[in-house]
Amino acid sequence: MMICVFAALLGAAMFGPYIQNVTDTGGLVVWEGEDLSPVVRAVVAPNGEFALKADTVRVGDDDRVRVRLAVRGVEPGSHVRGHLLDTDSTIVPLSSFSFTTPDPDAAVRFLYFGDSGSCSGTQRTLSRLINKLDADFAAHAGDVIYPSGERKRYDECFLAMYRPMLSRTPFFPVIGNHDIRTSDAAPYLEIFDLPIVKGIPENHRERYYSFRWGPIFWLALDSNDALEMRDTQCSDGREVSDKNRYETVKNISLELREESHQYRWLVKELASAPAECWIVINLHAPPLSTTYHESYCGLYKALQAASLEAGRKIDIVISGHEHDYQRSWPIRMDVPGDQNDPASKKGRGESWPMEFDAAEGTFFIVSGGGGGRKMFRPSPDEGVAWIARGEKKNHVMQFFVDDRSILLQSIDSREVLLDQVRIVR
Ligand SMILES: [Fe+2]
Repeated sequence: MMICVFAALLGAAMFGPYIQNVTDTGGLVVWEGEDLSPVVRAVVAPNGEFALKADTVRVGDDDRVRVRLAVRGVEPGSHVRGHLLDTDSTIVPLSSFSFTTPDPDAAVRFLYFGDSGSCSGTQRTLSRLINKLDADFAAHAGDVIYPSGERKRYDECFLAMYRPMLSRTPFFPVIGNHDIRTSDAAPYLEIFDLPIVKGIPENHRERYYSFRWGPIFWLALDSNDALEMRDTQCSDGREVSDKNRYETVKNISLELREESHQYRWLVKELASAPAECWIVINLHAPPLSTTYHESYCGLYKALQAASLEAGRKIDIVISGHEHDYQRSWPIRMDVPGDQNDPASKKGRGESWPMEFDAAEGTFFIVSGGGGGRKMFRPSPDEGVAWIARGEKKNHVMQFFVDDRSILLQSIDSREVLLDQVRIVR
């Protein structure tokens, strides 16, 4: 089903549109600029009915306003398209947008990158590839804006940088440690409209959330308070230094300790996730890493405990924080503290991509090579037992997911494939 939306606006300076919070019945189209009018001029709905509602809020002290156009009541699998028109010239659209609502029975393609928001040359180079790739949605590992999640830097280092991708790809980030440094992530929470899940306290809203997209059940976590709960001794025998304890402990508790609200919520979500879905967890800090920050073993143990308590296997844990790429062998999380001993180092068949049975374990991926200014040392250490592939390169990932399989790929800015793996069930 295709739906067309036309909206008119005044003035040419604009950021966006970008697509947010798409569900199987609609989504939000957001843009910002000076003196924008959210007047809807024309609506074409070839198939069925839907509702449009726009709200406008003033941003900051100047003439800047932010418009959120809600498209509601569409059917799953609908392709929604629209054009933003300048009232002086209604012939050539200033900008266009599109998105497709999830269909529970359709295959899904999603993009993933992180640690991007430095406005560096490397971010810009990689953004050309990100803007070329088509996907149903995109997710981000956090550290959307360096150095401190400043509101004014979102224009250049995020909204303008990824404009083509953001105008056609619903975007689901998690909060990085740099994003919370301005007013406890107030700019991040203003820019993004993320799923608001029932039962989450008001001051935790949009900091962690879940959604279903076709065969995927997605869990986005806030790992920032967890940065303070790292163990000094990981069970893989590596001594973790104290060099990166953070100053950014927040005044609201978002720990992943037993009895914390986020942890209890995670267990509940895992226990009630649809049985037919793949479970993907996105969080900023890496539970397993061989590079600069090293493993956040407290997070590993929290995810392991939640998975055991809920009786639900996690298929993929993906994070950033390290400015590189690391991918594990399948890890048996049901064996306590056993990340030193991967379930398997043998894929099926000789050909690339290596193929694994989903039952073999959980894949841990670090994908924080989105263009942060510094490429951290040391290089990923493939000598550590759990790591299968490491690359110190800027990259973006794409995942092709259906009921039976996940194909994941890591691609560098020159469009060279760094890694690919197929997980089947
Ligand atoms: Fe970070």
